[in-house]
Amino acid sequence: MSRGNLYLLTDRKGRKYLVRTRPGGRFSHHRGTVEHAAIEAAGPGGVVETHKGEPLWIKRPSLEEYVLLMPRSATVTYPKDAAAIVMMLDLEPGMRVLEAGSGSGGLTLFLARAVGPKGEVVSYERRPAFLERARANVEAWGAENVRFFLGDLAEAELEEAGFDGVAIDLMEPWKVLDPVERALKPGRSAVFYLPNITQVVELLRSIEGRPLRLGRVIEVHHRSWDVRPPVAHPSFRQIGHTAFLVELQRTREPKGGPNREEEQAGGDEKESTVAEAVRDRGADQGPDRPGGAG
Ligand SMILES: C[S@@+](CC[C@H](N)C(=O)[O-])C[C@H]1O[C@@H](n2cnc3c(N)ncnc32)[C@H](O)[C@@H]1O
Repeated sequence: MSRGNLYLLTDRKGRKYLVRTRPGGRFSHHRGTVEHAAIEAAGPGGVVETHKGEPLWIKRPSLEEYVLLMPRSATVTYPKDAAAIVMMLDLEPGMRVLEAGSGSGGLTLFLARAVGPKGEVVSYERRPAFLERARANVEAWGAENVRFFLGDLAEAELEEAGFDGVAIDLMEPWKVLDPVERALKPGRSAVFYLPNITQVVELLRSIEGRPLRLGRVIEVHHRSWDVRPPVAHPSFRQIGHTAFLVELQRTREPKGGPNREEEQAGGDEKESTVAEAVRDRGADQGPDRPGGAG
C-alpha cells in the first residue's frame, strides 16, 4: 500500500503539526478539523481552514522540522548540531559513515541526506526498542541508504578503514574507541556529541597512545530574534546548551593525542589550552563519570 504524503501544518500561533495524509483521513486541531483531501488539494504553499475557521499553512516538513516533531525514544541530536557534525565530517555524496547509537534516528537522517543514495550510513544501537523506533522514523522519511545493526558498537565487527566518517552520540564514547579507530580511514574524522564537559575531558584522556588526534572542540549557538516591528529583540526563550562537538582525526601512527610536545611548544593556541586542561586535570583530580541516560 502506498504511503500518503507528509505535510507540515502551521497554525496562527506558529504551532507546527506533522500530518501523513491518507484516503478519508482527517486532521484534528483544537480549533476544528480538516479533511486530508483538502490538505492535498491546497498543497505545499497553500492554506486550509478547519471547520471552525482556523487557518493552517501547508508545506513539506524540512528535515529539521521532521526530526524535532517525529516520535522519539531517545533524545535526538539537536538539528543545529547535526548540521555541524555533517560539516565537521566533511561528508559528501557517495561516502560511507558509521554511527552509534541510533537513538531515535535523528542524526541518522542528517548523515543519510549528506551521503546521498549512493552513500551509506551504518548505524548501531544496542536497545532493540530504540532501534525499531529509529528504523521507523528513517523509513517514514523515505531514506533508503541506512543499514541498522542491533548491538553494542564496542563489539561490532567492522572492516578496517571502511568509513569516511564516524558520528558518535552515546554516554560513554571512550568505550567505543577501538571500533572507531578501526573503522576510520586515515586522515578522516570522528565527531562525538557530548552534553557534558566532563565527558569531553574523559574522552581526550582516553585517546592517549591511540592513532587519534584532537581536531577541535566546539559548541554551536543559534540566537533567535523576535522581529515584529516595532518589536525587535533577541527572543526571551532560547535553546540553551545542547552539547559539545569533539572532532578526532585518525592518524596513521599511534602518537596523535592532544598532549604532543611539539604542539604545545609552537602549535595552535586553542589546542594547547585543551591539552593543558586535560593534563592538569589528570594530575590533580580523578576522572569524572557523567551520569544520565544513553
Ligand atoms: C542520545 S541517544 C542517540 C540519539 C540519536 N543521535 C538521535 O539523533 O536520535 C544514545 C543512544 O545510544 C545508545 N547506545 C549507548 N551506548 C551504545 C553502544 N555502546 N553501542 C550502541 N548503542 C549505544 C543508547 O541506547 C541510545 O539509544
